[in-house]
This record gives sequence, C-alpha cells and structure tokens, in this order.
Amino acid sequence: MQNSLPRLNLSTTHKQMGKKVAQQIAKLVTDKPDAVIGLATGSTPDPMYKELIRMHKENGLDFSRVRFFNLDEYVGLPYDRPQSYHYEMREKFFKHINAKPENIHIPDGMAEDLQAACADYEKAIRDAGGIDLQILGIGETGHIGFNEPGTPFDAITHISRLSEKTRADNARFFGGDKNKVPTQAITMGLKTITAAKQIILMANGEHKGNIVREAMTTTPNQEVPASILQQVADKVTFFLDRAAAKHFKPYQQLFSVR
Ligand code: GLP
Repeated sequence: MQNSLPRLNLSTTHKQMGKKVAQQIAKLVTDKPDAVIGLATGSTPDPMYKELIRMHKENGLDFSRVRFFNLDEYVGLPYDRPQSYHYEMREKFFKHINAKPENIHIPDGMAEDLQAACADYEKAIRDAGGIDLQILGIGETGHIGFNEPGTPFDAITHISRLSEKTRADNARFFGGDKNKVPTQAITMGLKTITAAKQIILMANGEHKGNIVREAMTTTPNQEVPASILQQVADKVTFFLDRAAAKHFKPYQQLFSVR
C-alpha cells in the first residue's frame, strides 16, 4: 500500500483557498458536465460555495447535469432545522445554482430504517459511477465526513457515533448547547471517500494546524481518520490557508503549483 505525502496547495487566506478550490470544481464541471461531486458542510467550504455561486451567476457555470453527493447528515434532525445539512446545503449552495433536485443526494438521517438508508446511499454512489471529486473538511478529532477516531479504514456508508469533542465543536451551530447536538450521524465511510477519483481536503485557521500535520505525517492509523488519505496520496491535495499550514515550513518551498 502506498504511503506518501498528499500534495499541498497553500493560500494566504481562507477566501483565497476557497476560490482556488472553486476553480478546480469549475474546471471539472466544464470538462465533464455530468461530473459526480462529493460535497462537505461546515464553515471551511463557505468561500468555495460563494465563489461557485458567483461563477454560476456571472459566468454561467452550468450545474444542470452535475450529480452531487454530500458526505454526511445528522440522525434524527428534521430537515427544516437550520442545523441539518439538508437545510444548510440548500440555503448555502443549492438554491443559488441550477442543480436539478434529482441530482442532489444527502444521506437520509430521518429514515425509519437507517441501515437501509446507508446501503441505499452507497449504492446510489456506485450507480452514479463513483465520485469524480470529493471535497473534504477536517474536524479537530481528525474526522473526515463524520468518521470519528476508531472508524475502520474499510467502512462504507454507516451510522457513526459522534465524539464528545465533535459535539462540543459543533455546539456553536446549536446555540452553544452541546446537548442539542445529535449523538449520531450517517456518513460516507472512509472506504467510500477514498474510492473517489480525486480528493481535496480543505483546512483553514490555526486551530486546524495540529490535526492537519498529524493527518499528513503520522503513520496511517484509525485514531486519526484523515491519515488514511496518505494511502491514496497520489489523488489527494490538501488546500490550506497560512494559519492551518503553520507546521509546514518553509512555507514557500511547499507551495504546490499544480
Ligand atoms: C463537521 C462535518 C465535517 C466538517 C468538519 C469541520 O462536523 N461533519 O464534514 O468537515 O466537521 O467543520 P468546520 O469546517 O466547520 O471546521
């Protein structure tokens, strides 16, 4: 199994990082109008979504045939609640572009049969021909999607139990009350994610510096879920802002021009 460093692409600011990733997506969509794109929630991709919306409105970037698959969704959080990822994605991105509703896929955390919902999601990705480009953020526990420490590397879409740290981190979206953060989520598994043809992980801010370094340099292990990306490093790029890249010196020498 290959273990090497994913490529680094460093930006001065969060906004610049988002614009660069939006350009990668726009290039893919232009080359392959029915591309399959895996999307992430959280605050990290905000500038990327803003730039994609701008490209759609000002340059006519066409999403009408693009198939979208989101990474994860909370279990038991109704979709009319602003903290649900269905709501977040609609308000932040989908309602501003020309994506077709039938091409938008987000795990069904309200399903009566959650196991069946996981299996259906995995099958839908397979039936779409697999993910061409997966966008990821990273949690401070090292999670990608909601694959928390301890998740087996061969996990496919499954129900995950959120760590106390992740619930505390996400309490900011729930009025600061950790107890309001659901305890479970449906997430694409690490195997699902690493099967994507290209992967971009984005991280910004000093608070992500330590986990980004660990993800890139520790021997891949289940306690740092994002470390699995080293095993598929040839198709992975970490887009970081200056603050998240604080452990990578000298800064300029690591700047990737890809
Ligand atoms: C959330 C999401 C992840 C996201 C991460 C980081 O809980 N499930 O997909 O990448 O945590 O969030 P943020 O971008 O807000 O730091």
